[in-house]
Amino acid sequence: MTGERVLVAYASKNGSTSAIAGMVAETLREQGLAVEVLAVSEVDGVGSYDAVIVGSALYAGRWRPEAVRFARHHRADLAERPVWLFSSGPLDATAGELVLPPVAGVQRIADRLKVRGHVTFGGCLQDGARGRIARMILKSGRGGDFRDPERIRLWAHRVARELTREPATP
Ligand SMILES: Cc1cc2nc3c(=O)[nH]c(=O)nc-3n(C[C@H](O)[C@H](O)[C@H](O)COP(=O)(O)O)c2cc1C
Repeated sequence: MTGERVLVAYASKNGSTSAIAGMVAETLREQGLAVEVLAVSEVDGVGSYDAVIVGSALYAGRWRPEAVRFARHHRADLAERPVWLFSSGPLDATAGELVLPPVAGVQRIADRLKVRGHVTFGGCLQDGARGRIARMILKSGRGGDFRDPERIRLWAHRVARELTREPATP
């Protein structure tokens, strides 16, 4: 079934997670899905979507607070539809080499919403990033762009496949 409405809601401090959300959306659209990409703070409700993908950057072992709030606030509607989660963070190659489990807080959200899946993508920290610690990391040479567009698209493709082979909800 194509034409299903999918929301990709993201939380990003320095912009790299919003770009991942954009890549996910692009792949879903290529598969015939009707996709909206919005920052979690811009979403009024999820009731009009057939499926939702929620993604957030990781900071100090947690999702961005607005993403956690989003999951809590829309809990009832999210629990009634297919949901996938993604986290973006590691500033090294590990996300592509290992299956990185969700951090504890995200695992709790995953359990509560009975999500279809979660994936951790590599992160990105580049000049201009906000925050004292971000600047320290950059100064010590541990920044960089560890996003892997191929892996992001593959994951989105699998999500699209699951959605397009399911009958639409009445
Ligand atoms: C202060 C700070 C704390 C971070 N903490 C984590 C972390 O706990 N786990 C992780 O995987 N990445 C961590 N990162 C890396 C970010 O998640 C990564 O840079 C991410 O791509 C940022 O996304 P954004 O550009 O959407 O804000 C941290 C980065 C900074 C600057």
